[in-house]
Amino acid sequence: MMVVKVASALYLSLYLIMCSEFIADQIKELVLKCQEARSMAYCPYSKFPVGAALLTADGAIITGCNVENASFGLTVCAERTAIQRAVAEGHRQFTAIAVTCDIKDSFVGPCGACRQVLMEFGSEWAVYLTKPDGSYKETTLNELLPYAFSPAHLGKK
Ligand code: THU
Repeated sequence: MMVVKVASALYLSLYLIMCSEFIADQIKELVLKCQEARSMAYCPYSKFPVGAALLTADGAIITGCNVENASFGLTVCAERTAIQRAVAEGHRQFTAIAVTCDIKDSFVGPCGACRQVLMEFGSEWAVYLTKPDGSYKETTLNELLPYAFSPAHLGKK
């Protein structure tokens, strides 16, 4: 009986280690993809490239970069480019997003408008704020946009 208990505890810990390694690899991949996306940014006016990479519930990674316009107000942020691309490709469920820009000395979050757009697709997903060296800080959309207005509020009095 004791042997069975020890064996199942060992299997469980092995399984948990494998799961956490898988998740760590997924985060690394997501960070890498958002850095690649940043290099595609079209930002001749601000010269401030931003990259984003979304992880969908079925494991796909969809990227986006900021796309600026001579009519400045038409600029689209990297996070929104990624969301629009993902939705157009049939994805509506997301588990994480990684975002990066060229700022080296602090972690920078998505702008307020992007937080609201991300909130449209749930509040529980992970947000990885990353620096150019690949280091990251994990937060959640809930943390970034507390007391958010969401689709759930529509129709409520
Ligand atoms: N930008 C993003 O792509 N995401 C954000 O969350 C904040 C700002 C872009 C928009 C613009 O092209 C440049 O950064 C400077 O604001």
